[in-house]
Amino acid sequence: MKNRKKLVVLTGAGMSVESGLSTFRGSGGMWGQHRVEDVATIDAWYKDPEKVLDFYNIRRKELSGVYPNDGHIVLATLEEDFDVEIITQNVDNLHEKAGSTHITHLHGELMKVRSTGPGAEVFELTPENLEIKLGDKCPKGYQLRPHIVWFGEAVSEMNKAINITEKADVFLVIGTSLNVYPAAGLLNYVLSGVPVYLIDPNEVNVNGKNITVIKKGAGEGMKEFKEMLKILK
Ligand code: OAD
Repeated sequence: MKNRKKLVVLTGAGMSVESGLSTFRGSGGMWGQHRVEDVATIDAWYKDPEKVLDFYNIRRKELSGVYPNDGHIVLATLEEDFDVEIITQNVDNLHEKAGSTHITHLHGELMKVRSTGPGAEVFELTPENLEIKLGDKCPKGYQLRPHIVWFGEAVSEMNKAINITEKADVFLVIGTSLNVYPAAGLLNYVLSGVPVYLIDPNEVNVNGKNITVIKKGAGEGMKEFKEMLKILK
């Protein structure tokens, strides 16, 4: 069996732009149209759960009409030669749909809901049943909530993500402004000497790191990165 190099990839909202989903920041971003404090914090959930449920019901509906783009697809093909681990801040399921198999969702998953009761049991939604309403309960009788990590909540997958990052032979960042912690801090766990690449059509502030920047969108950028990887294989 070949000794494969470990390629660890941190993705953000820009990964899914070419599929038709919005970013959060910048012009046309989600947080220009909705206030984070109204829909994506634990306090919002306590204050107006119906509004929060509606926000994620709409996001799920949007997701049902979009497909992986070239970026997701090329990334999935890299599993032929590399041990690929994706750490994503995205709550969409486009990496899965493209065929990637090792995905850690730092900020939760749109297509899952969980009980607000003890144990926080998680349930998968089906394409036929994309909405949850106030009064929709788990079998034990507790209200269901989106399986999303809201601002003010712990990022339970962070330790796993750190462990993965520390084992990277190559580290790639795609489509994230690196504004949100702890996710953005993962770069600090990349061991020294490990090559780091970044794909983004816009300037991203990455202080003090020796990074090879591919200033392109996810689709074109991934094609270019795949070519560059040939020398690292
Ligand atoms: P941002 O909206 O902060 O950043 C998106 C990045 O994608 C920017 O750097 C853009 O330049 C880049 N981008 C735009 N078009 C692109 C394209 N075609 N290809 C590649 N990149 C492109 O999104 P995130 O960094 O993912 O959390 O945001 C992090 C977290 O903040 C999200 O997970 C979300 C949000 O609040 C929660 O809701 C908990």
